[in-house]
Amino acid sequence: MGFSLQCWEPRSQRCSTVYTGALQTPGSFLDPEMRAFLEENTEVSSSGHLTPEIRLRLLTPRCRFWQERADLWPYGDPFWAIYWPGGQALSRYILDNPDAVRMGSVLDLGSGCGATAIAAVMSGASQVQANDIDPIAGMAMVLNCKLNNVNPFPILTKNIIDTELDNWDLIVLGDMFYDEQLANRLHHWLRKCVRTHGTKVLIGDPGRPQFLGHCIHSQLHKVVEYSLPESTRQENNGLTSSIVWSYQP
Ligand SMILES: C[S@@+](CC[C@H](N)C(=O)[O-])C[C@H]1O[C@@H](n2cnc3c(N)ncnc32)[C@H](O)[C@@H]1O
Repeated sequence: MGFSLQCWEPRSQRCSTVYTGALQTPGSFLDPEMRAFLEENTEVSSSGHLTPEIRLRLLTPRCRFWQERADLWPYGDPFWAIYWPGGQALSRYILDNPDAVRMGSVLDLGSGCGATAIAAVMSGASQVQANDIDPIAGMAMVLNCKLNNVNPFPILTKNIIDTELDNWDLIVLGDMFYDEQLANRLHHWLRKCVRTHGTKVLIGDPGRPQFLGHCIHSQLHKVVEYSLPESTRQENNGLTSSIVWSYQP
């Protein structure tokens, strides 16, 4: 597969569809051309990850772009088409421990395919919002909500790191500490959210070096560790487990 966090560099969005970047009503993502492209180039999958009860449109070995050169993919890197180990662990934890979200408000930051936000809805969160700076992720999330018979939640496609934040009960971040600069910004912003609002923060990560070596690590408490399925291990250069951490500055 041509896409991995190891080779990722932020790219400008090459998507030709017009999005405002503001809080979207879910239907506004359903550009018919883009929808057809996503459906043609992904496969509905419920196996090979930690939450078989959540069905997702993902890039699998049976998809054309699994083998094709990554630079032939016509849009920005499709991180929303991969269910990353950090998100898998968070979603598994939320499904197994609904009390962690029940009746509370949850923000899934860097939501990608939206699985963790979907898990929060399934577990009874009273309010869920997803945020991802890739507008195509927004459309993929709408499709994934439909697959799981979940009412689409609001999706925000502008950057909110470093901004004043609403008072969320819980912020979840799956596999978001893959880049040092992003990790620094997240750390600073999350600390402010916790201190200002008493927000709880859960981070899912499979032990990426940028995460393990970051100073946030000394302020984390291990919640649970999951052994990763074989196919997820293969897609992630042999990483074998994924951990949910609670951030307590
Ligand atoms: C490695 S993926 C993780 C996706 C998902 N959380 C999971 O675990 O499957 C990282 C995601 O973060 C998004 N992202 C990167 N920078 C961001 C930012 N500043 N704000 C919101 N999302 C961002 C990317 O577009 C990508 O979808």
